[in-house]
Amino acid sequence: MFDIEKIRKDFPILKRIIWGDKKLVYFDNAATTQKPSVVINALVDYYENINANIHRGVHKLAEESTIAYENVRLKVRKLLNADSNTEIIFTRNATESLNLLSYTLGESLNEGDEILISEMEHHSNIVPWFILKNRKNISIKFIPITDKYELDYEALSSLVTKKTKIISVTHKSNVLGTVNDIKKISDIAHSAGAVLIVDAAQSVPHMRINFNEMGCDFIVFSAHKMCGPTGVGVLAGKKDLLEKMPPFMGGGEMIRKVTFDDFTVNDLPWKYEAGTPNIADVIAFEKAIDYIQSIGIQNIYDYECELTSYALDSIKQFDFLKLYGPENVKNRAGIITFSNPVVHPHDIATIIDQYGVAIRAGHHCAQPLMKKLGVQATCRASFYFYNTKQEVDIFINALKSAFDYFALGACKDLVSNEPKGAKR
Ligand SMILES: Cc1ncc(COP(=O)(O)O)c(C=O)c1O
Repeated sequence: MFDIEKIRKDFPILKRIIWGDKKLVYFDNAATTQKPSVVINALVDYYENINANIHRGVHKLAEESTIAYENVRLKVRKLLNADSNTEIIFTRNATESLNLLSYTLGESLNEGDEILISEMEHHSNIVPWFILKNRKNISIKFIPITDKYELDYEALSSLVTKKTKIISVTHKSNVLGTVNDIKKISDIAHSAGAVLIVDAAQSVPHMRINFNEMGCDFIVFSAHKMCGPTGVGVLAGKKDLLEKMPPFMGGGEMIRKVTFDDFTVNDLPWKYEAGTPNIADVIAFEKAIDYIQSIGIQNIYDYECELTSYALDSIKQFDFLKLYGPENVKNRAGIITFSNPVVHPHDIATIIDQYGVAIRAGHHCAQPLMKKLGVQATCRASFYFYNTKQEVDIFINALKSAFDYFALGACKDLVSNEPKGAKR
């Protein structure tokens, strides 16, 4: 599909040796991804050659850095197939984009209004709404998930009322891998007159996104989960809504005019970009987008499906593990989450770290989902296009050593992976 060995050479960190002689196997990509040299070099190049504040100065450097920064907006617009550059706002991360929405869009809500979010949300798509709830006296309802780890669309339909003003859901769960049907949710949301927000932090890096075809009103994601630097997030939104919403933060750049009495706001998108933004990292993000597009987002998706399928087939030999996520690999590519009732996920992750394998253990910033699943925490392996089947084999062998150490083979009767009778 693509030359994986060549790709791996583009990522300096993948050469790292961990704990003496173990090669790094990095399976924590849902938390953040590694960076190719082109992105790292772009940061150095920016500071060595163009560093200047944007939109303000008239000198050569200011002009160059403004052009470079605004070019990335154009690139993001094309990546998402949004209508206009004015619909693309740069923030610090997906979390800030969601907070921006809860503060600005949320301002139009009145006492008694309702917001729907799902049981599989990351805390970033829960807490900002709870903060709004406390401020506005509104209610938050959770759309349940089914025994097959999918969104319960029937329940969603029945939860929607005339008071539903916002539906905010993840496109792809960072725990289950489940990919939600945004078109379906958008039909339900819009027929009720609600605005649809999509948390695409886990989908934009891994699958083709078409903001216009999806039918949502806002979409958010972070650059660092797609080979870009940390400190850059995106909020894409429909222009008419962005225009109506009040500004988020006040300061330089977001104003048109300031007097001794008042201020007027700048045009989109700068209305939402107060102060000096993260110029260097935004500019380096362009290289990440170029890099991903040179591989092909569909190729990335297909490769991750193949890798996930391979890993799932292997991990199923451990019949004492509870696996979480939809059966169909196309609906959960790239993420494998598991647990065992006898051993804490942190202990599994700590042991396999000794073999150079980096996975995540914990609640994955999804405590309500953990509660629903009936666990405190799980282990999660998450892949990206630079991972290989050989690395999956190393991961499986490391797990085998950990499970032998804990004698987990003896506790297989404690676990069921049948959806209906599953211990949840
Ligand atoms: C589904 C989902 N939403 C939101 C976020 C928050 O992303 P960030 O920490 O970059 O703001 C994450 C991060 O893991 C995520 O997985």
